[in-house]
Amino acid sequence: MKIGFIGLGHMGSAMAANLVKAGHDVTVFNRSAEKRRALLELGAHEAVRIVDACQGEVVITMLADDTAATQIALAEDGVVANLAKGAIHLSMSTISVALSGELAQAHAKAGQRFVAAPVFGRPDMAAAAKLFIVTAGDPAAVGECKPIFDALGQKTVPIGTEPSAANLVKLSGNFLLASVIEALGEAIALVGKAGIDRHAYVDLLTSTIFPAPPYKTYGGLIAETKFEPAAFAAPLGYKDIRLTLTAAESLRVPMPLASLLRDRFLRLFAQGGDSLDWSAIGGLATQDAGGTRLSAL
Ligand SMILES: NC(=O)c1ccc[n+]([C@@H]2O[C@H](COP(=O)([O-])OP(=O)(O)OC[C@H]3O[C@@H](n4cnc5c(N)ncnc54)[C@H](OP(=O)(O)O)[C@@H]3O)[C@@H](O)[C@H]2O)c1
Repeated sequence: MKIGFIGLGHMGSAMAANLVKAGHDVTVFNRSAEKRRALLELGAHEAVRIVDACQGEVVITMLADDTAATQIALAEDGVVANLAKGAIHLSMSTISVALSGELAQAHAKAGQRFVAAPVFGRPDMAAAAKLFIVTAGDPAAVGECKPIFDALGQKTVPIGTEPSAANLVKLSGNFLLASVIEALGEAIALVGKAGIDRHAYVDLLTSTIFPAPPYKTYGGLIAETKFEPAAFAAPLGYKDIRLTLTAAESLRVPMPLASLLRDRFLRLFAQGGDSLDWSAIGGLATQDAGGTRLSAL
């Protein structure tokens, strides 16, 4: 397929590389031009402006947040202004439910199609083409994107025809992951302070009652107090909890645990933890118990 790819951060650079490796004709754009270089060496074409990435059947965006997605998609020289009629904007970023709805409307008005396909999996899973992809949008448009999903992920799950449904599901999943991180942090602080080996404890949990990947990944990082380098930066995790709470507010759904998580992120940032991985909120309980300080703080 002829594909444009916009946003070559931790996730996007690995995803765009997999599309090139799968044989697609990929044109890449990133705000900071130096991040395009590695992709060009792999065989991608360079987009110097957003319009250059909008010449194919599909343009994928993998951007940090709502501000970035708005600037790239809705600006005068952005995606909506440049995409051909009938072409697809495949939004894979974790953005708000409201912005997803706004983008769907803007593309429909311009005679284009909009599919939301946010992902689960950190950059190592993106590099291994093992992402889990949640899709929502017009089934025909979602179907046309299948070769892209096949090149990026291990499983693709359609969740509805309204694109924003995929964004809400993604946010709910990240709320659950952050809850796991906080809960693991508290449990590890408890047993660790009693002198029990933290790694042995995580091994015990993940080989018995909690054999799920997030417990293994985050349990290991918390046991080791290893929150750098950030594979998923704490400000992006905070963004997801805030977007979850915004969606919860508009649906009138009380989420007390999400409110608590918001404050845990604020506590991390108040101490200068902005550059750490989001799993660093799982280190706060140990610190509260008088244990090791987080390395960057
Ligand atoms: N990392 C993970 O584990 C993970 C997992 C699943 C989903 N996600 C989601 O995937 C998305 C990307 O995450 P990431 O970890 O790849 O983030 P990242 O490494 O911080 O990359 C962010 C990308 O957005 C661009 N960007 C930021 N602000 C911009 C603006 N105002 N205008 C234009 N471009 C802008 C950046 O461009 P520059 O290079 O110029 O800064 C970069 O290409 C986020 O929505 C995140 O929540 C992340």
